[in-house]
Amino acid sequence: MIEVGFNFVGKGNLVNFKKYASKVAKIDSMIKNKTGKGNTFLGWIDYPANVGNELLADIVKTSKKFMKTYDTLVVCGIGGSYLGSKAAIEAVNGLYHEKGMEIVFLGNTLDPNYICQTMRYLKDKNFAVCVISKSGTTTETSVSFRLVKKLLVEKYGKDFGKAIVAVTDKTSGALRTEVNNENYKSYELPGDIGGRFSVMTPVGLFPIACAGIDINEMMEGMKQAMTDFDNPDIMTNPCYQYALERYFLYKNRKYSTEMLNCYELGLRSLTEWWKQLFDESEGKDKKALLTASCIFTTDLHSLGQFIQDGSKLLFETILFVKNPTEDIIIGNDEKNLDGLNYLNGKTLSYINHKAYVGTLKAHSEDGKVPNITLTVDRMDAKTLGYIFFFFMKACAMSAYLLGVNPFNQPGVEIYKRNMFHLLGKQGY
Ligand code: PA5
Repeated sequence: MIEVGFNFVGKGNLVNFKKYASKVAKIDSMIKNKTGKGNTFLGWIDYPANVGNELLADIVKTSKKFMKTYDTLVVCGIGGSYLGSKAAIEAVNGLYHEKGMEIVFLGNTLDPNYICQTMRYLKDKNFAVCVISKSGTTTETSVSFRLVKKLLVEKYGKDFGKAIVAVTDKTSGALRTEVNNENYKSYELPGDIGGRFSVMTPVGLFPIACAGIDINEMMEGMKQAMTDFDNPDIMTNPCYQYALERYFLYKNRKYSTEMLNCYELGLRSLTEWWKQLFDESEGKDKKALLTASCIFTTDLHSLGQFIQDGSKLLFETILFVKNPTEDIIIGNDEKNLDGLNYLNGKTLSYINHKAYVGTLKAHSEDGKVPNITLTVDRMDAKTLGYIFFFFMKACAMSAYLLGVNPFNQPGVEIYKRNMFHLLGKQGY
């Protein structure tokens, strides 16, 4: 379902897979047997096969009820608690709201302008809220939830709780306490799955289902990826080939940045999810690639100049979708004042594909920028599930190659401590 290619000019940029075969196989067994660093957070590795039909059916049932009752769903969550669902909804449904409930994301910022604008926007909407926090204590999420809950009370009175679904830990955290007190509908986030690996759990599934996307299909894609990449052999496992190549370019060829580029605007949030996945998992102990992303051809007219001609610090990974969900033909124009008649009868996807091939050649051959290509046939719920799992497993392999624990994020705590101290929170 995903084809991995390497477009490198210059000797030595392509790793010798055979040389790393035993190291990769050893890490594969660490992942499978859950024995590596952070092993208590490897629940996602077999979750797609174990999720259970009752849970999926309950999520679908509740989402259908919500779709009938409300027009908008406000998702309150930050980091791994919203990036996966945002990525999925935009990748599958596109950027305009045409299907399912309209999904609005809040709780991912402390920006007063955005929060006030969103609250104003919601006033006339018939909206519900899905609050998502594993810890149940994240400030950005809690602050937005408190504000939006006030709107719910104003709108629905004592029945406001019926418009709330919470996703949080089974027992701990302030959100769990509130769920128990107020009797909100809730789902559990398994204790052995961290935020950025949680798109396969109710964290991702509930908002995605409310957007009218088939979550069973998405889980099928994940399950297929689970099977396809359950293979310790670097010579035949494309997921590990991608992980090893990016590690090699960092470690042995001293590239500092990996840039993930796509040719569809609807994939921008997928690149944001990917950045969080890799940077929060790997950026530790003064190590790791920095991730960046572009959407082409849009960003070829801005960052494209740097990629082609600037400092040689980055390599590119291109995620290309061969067949768009929709297409359109460029017609003939008698006057041809724009000079575009040479494109008469061509589809936009044909033109976009030529841009991809031309850019690949320009960047990899003329610009000497190593390009890894990841190609999929189409972008639907199943393929997306497959892609999510491909990147998660590659990330675990890549982080273990680097020697870091992929599943913690100690660096994130420091800003929180300072902020709490400045805000006068008790204990800081
Ligand atoms: O990937 C992660 O673990 C983080 O990005 C968390 O998802 C993020 O910090 C939000 O945490 P919580 O779900 O506890 O509110």
